[in-house]
Amino acid sequence: MEKFVVEGKQRLTGRVKISGAKNAALPILAGALLTGGTVRLTEVPELTDIYTMLEVLKALGAKYTFSEGEVVLHTPEITSAEAPYEQVRKMRASFLVMGPLLARTGRARISLPGGCAIGARPIDLHLKGFEALGAKIEMGHGYIEATAPKLKGNTVYLDFPSVGATENIMMAAVLAEGQTIIENAAEEPEIVDLANFLNNMGAKIKGAGTKVIRITGVKDLDGVNHTVIPDRIEAGTFMIGAVATHGEVIVENVITDHLTPLIAKLIEAGAEVIEDEDQNALLVRSKGKLKPLDIKTLPYPGFPTDLQAQMMALLATVPGISVVTETVFENRFMHVTELNRMGAKIRIEGRSAFIEGVESLTGARVKATDLRAGAALVIAGLVADGVTEVGHIFHIDRGYERFEEKLRGLGAKIYRVGD
Ligand code: EPZ
Repeated sequence: MEKFVVEGKQRLTGRVKISGAKNAALPILAGALLTGGTVRLTEVPELTDIYTMLEVLKALGAKYTFSEGEVVLHTPEITSAEAPYEQVRKMRASFLVMGPLLARTGRARISLPGGCAIGARPIDLHLKGFEALGAKIEMGHGYIEATAPKLKGNTVYLDFPSVGATENIMMAAVLAEGQTIIENAAEEPEIVDLANFLNNMGAKIKGAGTKVIRITGVKDLDGVNHTVIPDRIEAGTFMIGAVATHGEVIVENVITDHLTPLIAKLIEAGAEVIEDEDQNALLVRSKGKLKPLDIKTLPYPGFPTDLQAQMMALLATVPGISVVTETVFENRFMHVTELNRMGAKIRIEGRSAFIEGVESLTGARVKATDLRAGAALVIAGLVADGVTEVGHIFHIDRGYERFEEKLRGLGAKIYRVGD
């Protein structure tokens, strides 16, 4: 398997262009199943997760081309309503085809998505929504089968503002009869991007980005052109890397509003963040001594769980005691043992990690346990004394387009080697 070799004591300096958001592109690709028309997407990042989703769509009857960030896709007819195990096990987000399949064909048979390193990740809220819209759900042999001759609008309350459940239910509701209200909905920017995409196809969705989303069902949807929003988590990863390495980085192609919680925390730590409106860019640099932080991950607009590991890599060398509390996933601290192998002093108590800043980390052989943990270990490697080898980088390739190339563009000495 491939690994990254990262030389330590590197400062990140220069400009980096942020790619389109993986977590917007994935639900939007699933939503393309809702029409027989042609869907043209630009700013689609070239990631293994995107290829996995395209393979799932192809198995369902979609035809597509994907080059230079542009996907042109159309599904004249759904030739199969089944997403098989070998594809769903690769990526939980494949489950997002359930809502569109139900809406378009009245049937969907999806392999139960396995858990993953960061938690069990159930789908009970997705199923609660589909049942509320009149679908009959049956489980067996590791598959979930949903059937609904005609979905009918209803009110669905989400016990937790699940991103995937909000997206799946929204996509099922756009072709249902009557109105659907999703209460305690997730408010992430990727939900808003999906709603804009669907509305441009002719859907009637109001309130995306707030806790209450109202969808009035329509008869059918047309093809559409859509540009995917920039990836706030990729942007945040480079911003954290800039501060951790005491560098100075301009991240281009960002939507500043989507980064408010991170910007607030970086400034609280003593970094400088300057917005350049015309360029849709942010300049991030550290001004010397940083201060410890108390961070709690929460659903948007709280601090994103997808930047928690990267922040830990930064705080590992900030003098004092920082606290990071993970409230979204039940098991998203696997990077802690890897960081401690690099000399960090992090202690876990329940859902909180206590980080005692150390003078310096030391390079070591570590391995990524999920895509954000992998990015965090690369940041730690840039800061550490000596060379770090990060294994299992297939995790990183799922969510970061040309990661090592972009880092080299910022002056990092990082190389991909097969092993
Ligand atoms: C999305 O995952 C993102 N993935 C994740 O990004 C992100 O970490 C997560 O939202 C939270 O922001 C995509 O958008 C493809 P959830 P999702 O449903 O939809 C519980 C990355 O790094 N839950 O909001 O799977 C669940 O167990 C990835 O790019 C239920 O209990 O997240 C978890 O504890 C990692 N029942 C919490 O909600 C359900 O039916 C958040 O899950 C669904 C979820």
